[in-house]
Amino acid sequence: MSLKDKLTGKFIVFDGPDGSGKGTQIRLLAEKLKAEGLGVTLARDPGGTEIGDRIRQVLLGYDLSKMDVRCETFLFMASRAQLVGEAVEPAMKAGHVVLCDRFISATCAYQGAAGYDMGRILELGRFAVGDTWPQLTFILDVPSEEGFRRTGRKPHHTGNRRKHDGNQGLLLQDIEIDAMESRPLEYHRKVRNLFLALPPEYPGRIEIIDATGSPEQVHQSLLEVLERVDL
Ligand code: TMP
Repeated sequence: MSLKDKLTGKFIVFDGPDGSGKGTQIRLLAEKLKAEGLGVTLARDPGGTEIGDRIRQVLLGYDLSKMDVRCETFLFMASRAQLVGEAVEPAMKAGHVVLCDRFISATCAYQGAAGYDMGRILELGRFAVGDTWPQLTFILDVPSEEGFRRTGRKPHHTGNRRKHDGNQGLLLQDIEIDAMESRPLEYHRKVRNLFLALPPEYPGRIEIIDATGSPEQVHQSLLEVLERVDL
């Protein structure tokens, strides 16, 4: 079966630690699939719709130390409920392949690493997106140190820490390099480990890709998986 026929109407997610190169890989795959004549819809989570982008601004531009982890988790879910209804489902119906930057797998890893219960995350996810889960989730894996190096700790997060509950920890990437440097790294290691061990009940196929190579090498690994798997 051609890649075009295999991927028509499918929903594919790219996820992984910060700095894993998701954006580059989505772009490379989108170019390849478009060249084969397949309709490609790009999506990103959080965001990807006008309403979702507003929610993203709240999540990434707000003093998270004032936000309860449950509120944060709901906001991620709210953004993707909108994304699924407004962008993903219509694109799938139209026969496009949807390439989405992050999804519920990210909540499992990031909010999971902050101590939020994984069962709850999946339950909320089911409520938010119904049956619209990806058929395939790529986890692009890089060691946390490498991810830090690649992002240069992009200054798009507030850098604020939760003060009130040590168990909740740091939820979004911290831009401050300070005496607490080892703590965010430790948090990001937990995130990585949770990506590598998503729960068996996570819907759809999960494929872990070594993303330490060059963009072209990683792209080839993704294509090999797409050739091999049944979706
Ligand atoms: P990104 O644009 O790099 O994907 O930024 C999104 C940030 O939000 C990233 O640090 C991961 C984090 N995040 C969560 O904590 N939970 C989630 O559910 C999602 C989708 C992202």
